[in-house]
Amino acid sequence: MRVTGTNPAVLRLDRLLAESTGCSRSQARSLLLRSAVSVEGRTVRDAGFLVTPHCRVALEGNAVEWPREHYLMLHKPAGYECSSKSALHPLVSSLVPAPLGSRLHCAGRLDVDTTGLVLLTTDGQFSHAVTSPRRACPKTYLVTVRHPLDPAVPQRFAGGLQLRDEPRPTLPARLELLSPLQARLWLAEGRYHQVKRMFAACGNRVEVLHREAIGAVKLDPSLAAGQWRELTADEVESLRDS
Ligand code: URA
Repeated sequence: MRVTGTNPAVLRLDRLLAESTGCSRSQARSLLLRSAVSVEGRTVRDAGFLVTPHCRVALEGNAVEWPREHYLMLHKPAGYECSSKSALHPLVSSLVPAPLGSRLHCAGRLDVDTTGLVLLTTDGQFSHAVTSPRRACPKTYLVTVRHPLDPAVPQRFAGGLQLRDEPRPTLPARLELLSPLQARLWLAEGRYHQVKRMFAACGNRVEVLHREAIGAVKLDPSLAAGQWRELTADEVESLRDS
């Protein structure tokens, strides 16, 4: 199956070197100035020289691969932040070694204390497909609450809840009660702290929140917290279409 992405058709030579080898753009420029880089067998020292995927680029005689798009599932541990910068917490992307880790962004965030499935990608179109409110890609959560669940809550979630400072009620959500303190929730949107706010609106409090699935893609049970793997081509396609 063909996995399409947003890889540019043309790259500056310094960016190609940085993305393929994990060095910084300034390190890439030093390599170029040291005459360590060739294109089609000829030394190129110009950082802005444009190359395409068909160009034969070499660094100290070794072929430099064109950077491809990446699509990962990560089992997010508590205490990690889904953003590109944080002074307070380590970033989820730091769980993926360089050079790949620094190229990734999250396709949909989880709170610092939430665990479970996070998608990391280099492909902006893919993350848009997963997170766009118009696509309403469903997410599944396992929720543990502080107070015994009121049997009326599933109906309230199904009817949509008006959350404070929100212009519209939430979309209908499905809640299955699993035990007095635990439930599974299917949500077709991703507003700020939405799960916690929905339970708070019903007089309860989320104690533990874990994302089990996004669309048809389930968190791989073989991944321990902090581990990741590449998505299969079928998983990528199913998320693009969901
Ligand atoms: N809703 C929340 O409240 N927190 C999350 O991390 C995800 C959904």
